Amino acid sequence: MERNLDRGVDRGEVAGYRVEWVSETGSTNADLLAEARRGSETNRVLVADYQSAGRGRRGRTWEAAPESSLLFSVLTRPGIAAAMAHLVTNALALGAIEACDSLAGVRPGLKWPNDLVVADRKLAGVLAESVVAGDRLEAVVVGMGLNVRTGAAPPEAAESAVALEDVCGAIVDREELLAGVLARFSHWMGGIGQQGGRADLMAAARRESATLGRRVSVELGDGSVLEGLAQDLDERGALVMEDGMRVVVGDVVHLRDQSGSP
Ligand code: BTN
Repeated sequence: MERNLDRGVDRGEVAGYRVEWVSETGSTNADLLAEARRGSETNRVLVADYQSAGRGRRGRTWEAAPESSLLFSVLTRPGIAAAMAHLVTNALALGAIEACDSLAGVRPGLKWPNDLVVADRKLAGVLAESVVAGDRLEAVVVGMGLNVRTGAAPPEAAESAVALEDVCGAIVDREELLAGVLARFSHWMGGIGQQGGRADLMAAARRESATLGRRVSVELGDGSVLEGLAQDLDERGALVMEDGMRVVVGDVVHLRDQSGSP
């Protein structure tokens, strides 16, 4: 479902982003992707209280009860090569980790490739979709669904999901949380055009990783599964396994080590 963005409530500028907030849409990512293809300006944010067709990674859906989650997308034109699009995803994930820490006292881990987890339960997911011309990145729309209130995730995902309220025992204001995320996202995006900034960003992604040093099972893009120790992230955001294999696209399960500790 595509919508006319001019009908939303304009929340003005937040940390340099023009924010629009709607009560309902199909998918904030789909809406901003359509806007990006129409040549829309950079640094726009669309937030929805509810999505009827929320999109997840690898063709999955993303469901959340109305007003239970922070559901938003950012349209950005970062002026970097298409191969570096993962940096935008990491910038948003890091922004959310830092905002959760400062506003809720909860510091989630970054599960490869781009989930936020608390004790291996999923707090948030990130989906980046690009508009590419050759090897040039025209735009990236990066969206996040962050569970704020208990019961945000659908019942079938309840066991593997967690919300900020479950962890900190309070209801975090979604508007304040968004402002916190955007302020830190803006910080990380500010360095993305320089090598030093990109190195800092990837160093932070390694530091916040909940995956590195863990034994993992990885379902690859072709459906095959491999198991091993997750060792590093390369400068392209790929997961490097202990045998040197690089995984660019996949889903990870953190395995318990043999001692049984997580
Ligand atoms: C994942 O599969 O973990 C990624 C989920 C991303 C969901 C968010 S909710 C806001 C934005 N709009 C969408 O349709 N998807 C993303």
